[in-house]
Amino acid sequence: MASQVEAMRPNVYVTRLIPETPLKKLAEYCDYRVWEGELPVPHHVLVREVPAVDALLSLLTDKIDGTVMNAAPKLRIISNMAVGFDNVDVREATKRKIIVSNTPGVLTDTTADFAFALLLAAARRVGEGERMVRARKWKTWGPMILLGQDVHHATLGIIGAGRIGAEVAKRAKGFDMKIIYHDSVRRPDLEKTLGVEFRDLRALLVESDFVTIHCPLVPETHHLIGEEEFKLMKNTAILINSARGPIVDPKALYNALRSRQIAYAALDVTEPEPIPMDDPLLTLENIVIAPHIASASVATRTKMAMMAVDNLLAGVKGEKPPYVVNPEVLGK
Ligand code: DGY
Repeated sequence: MASQVEAMRPNVYVTRLIPETPLKKLAEYCDYRVWEGELPVPHHVLVREVPAVDALLSLLTDKIDGTVMNAAPKLRIISNMAVGFDNVDVREATKRKIIVSNTPGVLTDTTADFAFALLLAAARRVGEGERMVRARKWKTWGPMILLGQDVHHATLGIIGAGRIGAEVAKRAKGFDMKIIYHDSVRRPDLEKTLGVEFRDLRALLVESDFVTIHCPLVPETHHLIGEEEFKLMKNTAILINSARGPIVDPKALYNALRSRQIAYAALDVTEPEPIPMDDPLLTLENIVIAPHIASASVATRTKMAMMAVDNLLAGVKGEKPPYVVNPEVLGK
């Protein structure tokens, strides 16, 4: 009897070690294998690992394309442990009736906190100051040393007024900032509750002291900020990107920072990731670069993993997962 029940346990592949509690929950219902490497599972290894799997718990570093799906004829759900899912070929999954799920909501505050940390770090040149101290070059307090820009009462332009963009706006209110936003859809609710004002992209770039990106990476937002956009920005402007690297054209960013077309940038995401060690952006002082850690708090990463497990378990049980990206695959 026990072996019959065991035979029914779904097979799961987890593409990296995730927090313990969600993993334990997964183990209650499924047999799973985990890629334990520090680096992402190589694509060819992933293809080799999936022929018998019913479900995949994937990360934003895994390219889940048609090749992976073809190798996994039993695959019912790709549970991506991220709110973004540009690493998954959703069209290919939908064609095969494979559910794709993500983990929105739980990382909103943590990510918004970090976007603000980047904004403050760039405005007040925290990275440069830290490098100066560690290089043993701090000689005195000086009236002209490392002068940055005030955040309070400045104008913040938010590109993408979804969950995270809205939380960034809330934080900006605490700094008495004027907040303008651009999105493909107007947010009258936010306009009313937070007093944010809509602008077209051009007007937002012209007017903002800080521009922070919170839109998803889709074909329409690929290199949304490039040479022409930098030309519109103030030469004192600061660009913050904690969404996806390819939303900003990295060559154009380098040129804009080097020529002081804009003053500063702060990135949590790059194109590609990780940023190559010989990337010219790394030669600049007027940029802060973090290694894609905006959602990296203990509590949030645990919640993301738990949500990914919950989505996955629902998918393998034939139930509707809480957060589905392609609901059209679910039978009515
Ligand atoms: C996401 O969930 O898409 C984030 O980029 C991970 O921090």
